[in-house]
Amino acid sequence: MSELRMRKFWLMAFAIVMSFAICAPLVRAADDKEKGATPLEDEMIAANKAMKTLKTQITDASKNQLSLQLIQEMQQHFLAAKRMEPARAKKETDKAKFLADYRKAMINLMSEMLKLESAVVDNKNDEAAAMLKNLNKIKSDGHDKFQEE
Ligand code: HEM
Repeated sequence: MSELRMRKFWLMAFAIVMSFAICAPLVRAADDKEKGATPLEDEMIAANKAMKTLKTQITDASKNQLSLQLIQEMQQHFLAAKRMEPARAKKETDKAKFLADYRKAMINLMSEMLKLESAVVDNKNDEAAAMLKNLNKIKSDGHDKFQEE
């Protein structure tokens, strides 16, 4: 290989490595935010992290003790989030109604979380897996109604 070609090769290799180094954290940030813009978002992010691990093992009854810990963690984060005000509340004309609706949606989430816990305590893992799937719908409905665009 001529010297010019070698230089070109190393320049290309350097550019490729650098573009990965720059893009990887951006991709991670979009997929998995570590820090929220509000305390409420922090609680949601923490619950989401526990839920991701829970999803990988919900059908495995041998891991139910750890699953129960993860469920409890999620409940604690949601309970903390329940008493906070979504950022969007500031822009609502009927703020009182918006906050009452948020509270009721969070009560429903907590109630589903308790049912999920109950199913895992009873080793009903298939039932628990179906409930966990249903949480995705509760999550997206909650975000449509209460998260800022
Ligand atoms: C399984 C259930 C849920 C999970 C795992 C979850 C997770 C998250 C995550 C990761 C965020 C950060 C932003 C994003 O990535 O979208 C977020 C934000 C948010 N979530 Fe949830 N969420 C759930 C259910 C709900 C429900 C039921 C509500 C409403 C009753 C809700 C209200 C919000 C609000 C308002 C924000 C924005 C934070 C703010 O306004 O300060 N979430 N959620």
